[in-house]
Amino acid sequence: MLAVSSTPMKQFHVTTFGCQMNQHDSERMKGMLTSLGYSEVEQRDQADLILFNTCSIRENADNRFISHLGEAKRLKSENPERIVGVGGCWAQSVKDEVFRRFPFVDVAFGPGQIHRLAEFLNSDSLSAQGYFEFEEFSGDLPSHRERQFQGWLQISQGCNCACSYCIVPSTRGREESRDPDLLITEAERLAVDGVRELTLLGQNVNSYGRDLPVESRIRFSDLLRRVDLVEGIERVRYMSPHPKDMREDVIDAHVELKSLCEHIHLPLQSGSSPILKRMRRTYSRERYMDRVSMIRERLPDCGITTDIIVGFPGETEADFAQTLEVVEQVGYDQAFTFNYSPRRGTLAAEMDDQVPHAVKKERMSRLIDVVQRRARERAQRFVGRSLEVLVEGPSRNDPTRLRGRSRHSKAVNFEGTALPGQFVEVEVTSATSQTLTGSERLLSRISV
Ligand code: SAH
Ligand code: SF4
Ligand code: F3S
Repeated sequence: MLAVSSTPMKQFHVTTFGCQMNQHDSERMKGMLTSLGYSEVEQRDQADLILFNTCSIRENADNRFISHLGEAKRLKSENPERIVGVGGCWAQSVKDEVFRRFPFVDVAFGPGQIHRLAEFLNSDSLSAQGYFEFEEFSGDLPSHRERQFQGWLQISQGCNCACSYCIVPSTRGREESRDPDLLITEAERLAVDGVRELTLLGQNVNSYGRDLPVESRIRFSDLLRRVDLVEGIERVRYMSPHPKDMREDVIDAHVELKSLCEHIHLPLQSGSSPILKRMRRTYSRERYMDRVSMIRERLPDCGITTDIIVGFPGETEADFAQTLEVVEQVGYDQAFTFNYSPRRGTLAAEMDDQVPHAVKKERMSRLIDVVQRRARERAQRFVGRSLEVLVEGPSRNDPTRLRGRSRHSKAVNFEGTALPGQFVEVEVTSATSQTLTGSERLLSRISV
C-alpha cells in the first residue's frame, strides 16, 4: 500500500512524447505531483514513480516510447515497489490492452486525465488501474512551467474533424471549448505569475467557441481580443489553427492586436486537391491558396509555417508535384514534414493503394530541399533588421551566445548579455533556413 502523506519525499520522473498539449499536460502532472508531496528527479532510475506521457501520432512515436518502456520494466523488476504509469494518446488508443501487453504497468490514463493519477496514488489498491473516460478538462491543476515566462492556455480539447489519417479524434474525443471567462481568469493568473508569452492550445483553435452555450458563445478572434487585454501578456501565440477556419476576423485580429505575434501555422498536408479530399481536410488547394493570399496581402511580414504529409495512400507523382508547387509558391518560413504512417482505426490505414516506403523516402528528400531553399530565401528579409527577441537561454551549439525567438517564431542566436525572460532588440546579420544570427543592440533592452 502506498500512503503518500506519510512518505512525503517520494520521487517522480516524467518522460514526455508528442505535441505541446502533452507537454502542457506533463507540466500539470508535475505540478499536481509536487502538491502531493513528490519531488522531481532527473534520472529515471532514481524515481519511485516512473511516468510516460505518450503520443501515437505516427508509428515512430509508438516505437520510441516502447523502447523506453523496456527500461521501466527492468527498473520495476529491480524494485517492485516502483510504480509505472502510462498516460496520453498511446495509452488511450490501446486502453486496457496495455496491462495485457505490459503487465508491469500499474496505472494507465488517457490525455488530460491527470487528476485520475492523483486518485490512483491516493487509493488503497495498487492493482492495475485504467482511466479512459473522456471528461471535462480540469484547468485548476497547478502547473510546473519549464520556463516561468512562457505559459500555455488550453482553450479547447478534442477534435471534431475527421482527417482520414489521424488518430487524434479517437484519443482526445469530441471538441469541447472551455468557458471564456474561465480562460481569461487563467490567463490573468498566469500573467501575475510571470508569464509574458502565452500560447493558446487546441487541436483546432480557430473553431473555438462554436459549441459554447449561446450566452457565453464567442469566436476565436473575440477570445484573442480578450487575451490581448490581459495586463502583462506581451506576446500571444496559438497552435494549431485549421485552414478551413482561418477567416478574415482572425487576420483582422493579427492586424489590430499588439500582443498577437506575426506568425500563422497553416497546415497544408498536401498540395493536391484530390489527395486533400481523400484526407478529408475539407479545403481544396485553391481555397488554401486564397487564405495564403489573404495573409500575404494584409500581413506581408507574417511568418507562415506548415505541416506536410508525404506518401498518403494513392499519392501519385503528379499529386506530389502539386505539393512541391505550393511549397515553392508560398515560401514557408518553416515546414514540418512527415512520412505518412498508417494508424490503427483510421480510414486511410484501410486504403489499398499505400505508397511504398522507398517512394515516400525519395519524395521526402526532394520536398525537404525545396522547403529549406524557400525558407532560406524567405529568411533573408530579416537581414539588416532589428527584431524583438524573447531570450530563452544559452544557444544550444555555442553556450557563449544566447538563444531566443522573434515574434515570427524564428529561432535567433545572438551575442549579448540579457537574461532568460527579457525582451531585447537583436540586429540580424545573417539568416539560414532554420536560424537567424545577430547581436543584441546595446541600451535597447525592452523592459516589461
Ligand atoms: N490538430 C493539428 C495537429 C495534428 S498532429 C492540426 O490539424 O494541424 C500534427 C501533424 O502530424 C499533422 O498536421 C499532420 O501533418 C501529422 N500527422 C498526423 N497524422 C499523421 C499520420 N498518420 N502520418 C503522418 N503524419 C501525420
Ligand atoms: Fe487530426 Fe485533423 Fe483533428 Fe488535426 S484537425 S487533430 S489532423 S483530425
Ligand atoms: Fe501525439 Fe496525442 Fe499530441 S497523438 S501529437 S500527443 S494529440
